[in-house]
Amino acid sequence: MKVLVATQKPFAAAAVNGIREILEAAGHDVVLLEKYAAQEELTAAVANVEGLIVRSDKVTAEVIAAAPKLKIVVRAGAGFDNVDLAAASARGIVVMNTPGQNSNAVAELAVAMMIYMARTQFTPATGSEISGKTLGIQAFGNVGRLVGAKAKALGMKVKAIDPFLKEEQIEAGGAEPASTLKDLYATSDFVSIHIPATPQTIGSIGYTLISSMPKGATLVNTARKEVIDEAGLEKALEERPDLKYITDVAPDNYAVLKEKFGLRVFATPKKMGAQTAEANLNAGLAAARQIADYFATGNTRFQVNR
Ligand code: 3PG
Repeated sequence: MKVLVATQKPFAAAAVNGIREILEAAGHDVVLLEKYAAQEELTAAVANVEGLIVRSDKVTAEVIAAAPKLKIVVRAGAGFDNVDLAAASARGIVVMNTPGQNSNAVAELAVAMMIYMARTQFTPATGSEISGKTLGIQAFGNVGRLVGAKAKALGMKVKAIDPFLKEEQIEAGGAEPASTLKDLYATSDFVSIHIPATPQTIGSIGYTLISSMPKGATLVNTARKEVIDEAGLEKALEERPDLKYITDVAPDNYAVLKEKFGLRVFATPKKMGAQTAEANLNAGLAAARQIADYFATGNTRFQVNR
């Protein structure tokens, strides 16, 4: 089989080599498309491949339509909002993610972001310490739990909420369960967002939640920009000169926010939460193994479009 590794934001070389080794050892051919400038390049590259490994690359209905032989897509990462699941399912194409493989990298960035904002973006202005502060974790999955453990080690009090977990499960993960999302936001000096972008979550964090945060609070977003209601965020920052926002996914209104709020907002120039050598290797190799295994045995353990 032919497997295309299409990464607008390339994996580290060691991960690419590892992917190649795994797939070639299983008898497959690997084709690489990195740093492509236009979506058409991806559409052209999928024409004769049976397998596809991507990161945040957009696997749209057009891409799927242009890939008549495609059998499996593996998103090397957690969020799969970049893959048109309905179009894939309609063609019987299996879509998988690699849950947990890049979680530590994202969790480390979330902690770094809290400190960066607490220390006024590393300027000489007097900052504050995160020790002793309360962190609210919105969604207590692979990343959320790691953020919680690291925050506790730094002396923070950790609360969490997750619609898919019982209170006992949150406690077992080392956090105090928040009674409601409203309560989490209203009582946390930092809120770290770890929800996926779905029709239910898109635009779900806006003025009401953000402006309910305590004095001096910081909202940290290493999830997806789409979950934020940007107009609501702007209004909350406007009304509350003590609030701060830091994100790994620049909002569409970032230029306006930066202009209006200066050091109270920060966005990374390019999404980088999972961009470590370790995360590239973990997620990339997992993707390659999952594809090899699927072609060899039909294993669909990590399928997300059942
Ligand atoms: C994920 O969903 O796993 C992260 O957002 C990482 O995305 P990336 O592979 O584009 O860095």
